Amino acid sequence: MTTHRAAILPQLGGPLTVEDRATPEPGPNEILIEVKAIALNPVDYSQRDSGFPPVPSYPAVLGSDTSGLVAKVGANVSSVFTPGTRVIALASSFYQNGSPDHGAFQEYALAQSEGVTLLPDHVSFEEGAVLPLAVLTSLTAWTTIGISLDTKYVPQDKQAVLIWGGASSVGTLAIQSAKSLGFTVYATASPQHHDYLKKLGAHAVFDYKASDVVSRLVDAIKDDGVSLRTAHCVVSDGLQPTLDVLSETKGDSAAKVAHAPLLPPDHPTLDNTEIKFVFPSLDTTERNEHIRQCFQVWLKEGLESGVVVPSPHVQIEDGGLEGLNLALDKLRNGVSGSKIVLSI
Ligand SMILES: NC(=O)c1ccc[n+]([C@@H]2O[C@H](COP(=O)([O-])OP(=O)(O)OC[C@H]3O[C@@H](n4cnc5c(N)ncnc54)[C@H](OP(=O)(O)O)[C@@H]3O)[C@@H](O)[C@H]2O)c1
Repeated sequence: MTTHRAAILPQLGGPLTVEDRATPEPGPNEILIEVKAIALNPVDYSQRDSGFPPVPSYPAVLGSDTSGLVAKVGANVSSVFTPGTRVIALASSFYQNGSPDHGAFQEYALAQSEGVTLLPDHVSFEEGAVLPLAVLTSLTAWTTIGISLDTKYVPQDKQAVLIWGGASSVGTLAIQSAKSLGFTVYATASPQHHDYLKKLGAHAVFDYKASDVVSRLVDAIKDDGVSLRTAHCVVSDGLQPTLDVLSETKGDSAAKVAHAPLLPPDHPTLDNTEIKFVFPSLDTTERNEHIRQCFQVWLKEGLESGVVVPSPHVQIEDGGLEGLNLALDKLRNGVSGSKIVLSI
């Protein structure tokens, strides 16, 4: 039996411990990834520390974001993915009933082929690893509120979008994807990130800590003569000001807000405004096709053409799998405009 090293969550509360486990064979539509870099997301420390979203069974292997080399492929996988190919992969046990073979935090992880895409030579493993969950979440936000990924607004359409939390990992991809759909993008972030977010595609960026941030946004949107009825609220605390902006810009029209963090039952509301938690379809066939569109169309074409770049800034932490507990603690304490990555 072949084995590899994995960061295992033995029980609720952790800590993760590094142990050997059996290396799995890929199923017909799966790819076994030799992991070279992993990136961390808030869901990872939340599952470690409080078991939410639920961890179906222990020992578990957490994580979603990887880049690496194709090690083995299942019988039905495209010949594009030959062994040795550099790839970015969404490797997550979330849609696999908690299967520890599919978590990212190990030397070899299984990924469904729809969530794997080529990593161009000009992008490092560490840069590539920041993308998977943020790409999926930012694109799912649009489809959750009924905006198709082949939308192509032109400037004459004057369609604007507000991204509340633009410097977050999901927020930077929300900006890049909104721009690619043709929206004029307004975002909020701390001032030190404004130039960076404009390079990613934001038309204008506002300091969310300014007491008059709502009126500044409303004035700018009105001065620009665009129509703002769509928003993606990426961070907790952002919904009320997002609705405050929309209430001034939407007139009598309907508005739609995608909300990445879990929506509390008593969340604020606004007349004629749909607010939806970002979540891919529960239907497996529909979800797999959506994941394929996200990775093998939008991300692949975006990276190849240079229209999409890895974002936010990569923050490399030491220690490989053994460094994960400390790195997750760092993320829980908060990051600003960066994503924590470990080389494996
Ligand atoms: N629904 C889903 O499927 C799904 C999937 C993935 C993530 N999520 C959720 O999405 C959220 C974002 O995740 P992430 O990994 O992108 O977060 P992250 O990168 O860790 O977010 C950190 C950033 O949040 C910004 N921020 C914090 N409070 C803010 C506020 N009040 N207004 C504006 N910006 C604020 C900070 O901006 P500055 O540096 O500018 O201060 C910081 O750069 C989390 O709640 C996560 O759980 C949901």
